[in-house]
Amino acid sequence: PASSLFAPALLAWYPRHRRDLPWRHTRDPYAIWLSEVILQQTRVKQGLPYFLDFMASYPTVQALAAAPEDEVLRHWQGLGYYSRARNMHHTAQQIVREYGGEFPGTYDGLLKLRGVGQYTAAAIASFAYDEKVAVLDGNVYRVLARVFGISADIAAPASRKIFQQLADSLIPAEHPAEFNQAIMEFGALQCTPAKPDCLFCPLQSTCFAFQHGLVQELPVKSKA
Ligand code: ADE
Repeated sequence: PASSLFAPALLAWYPRHRRDLPWRHTRDPYAIWLSEVILQQTRVKQGLPYFLDFMASYPTVQALAAAPEDEVLRHWQGLGYYSRARNMHHTAQQIVREYGGEFPGTYDGLLKLRGVGQYTAAAIASFAYDEKVAVLDGNVYRVLARVFGISADIAAPASRKIFQQLADSLIPAEHPAEFNQAIMEFGALQCTPAKPDCLFCPLQSTCFAFQHGLVQELPVKSKA
């Protein structure tokens, strides 16, 4: 069945296709958090130099917390959505003041930080701590909607539960971090929005959308 082949197929695809990105070589929750905040509304190619600059200028959460806000905002210049930088700076100070400079060590703990939502908490918990919690972003929604033929509107808040349950059922206990990276990368490179590479896709024979000619119809996303 599609579901038992899904994780193995993704985990086989990933090392042959993944981009070599600096935040994939670290288990430092600070570096992972920084990369995810930058990549929230920014493409990898644009965000990469900012990530490298921030890690060089502020190598630790203590260094970021101690920096003046206007200096942090100058480093952010060109990325837009400046509330991201202000929230990030505030959260760094919160971690230093209230957590002794240590990131919370679990998904539930991470969720309590300002500006850290379900996606970011899952990314840090899985990539840094190998906690078995599935990430859900636009790439993941698209891959799951197509492979499993899910027509729930991904713009509707109620759909999140459906996708979260499915993703949590697919994530393998042995490789949660690798699985999360793999499914996001698969969505970014193979199962792309407009022109997915179905002809050379390892999931072709089990993909509901491909088998039913619905690749362009899935995922369903209302405009509202
Ligand atoms: N976009 C958001 N998070 C990412 C990550 N960890 N790697 C690549 N692209 C991303």
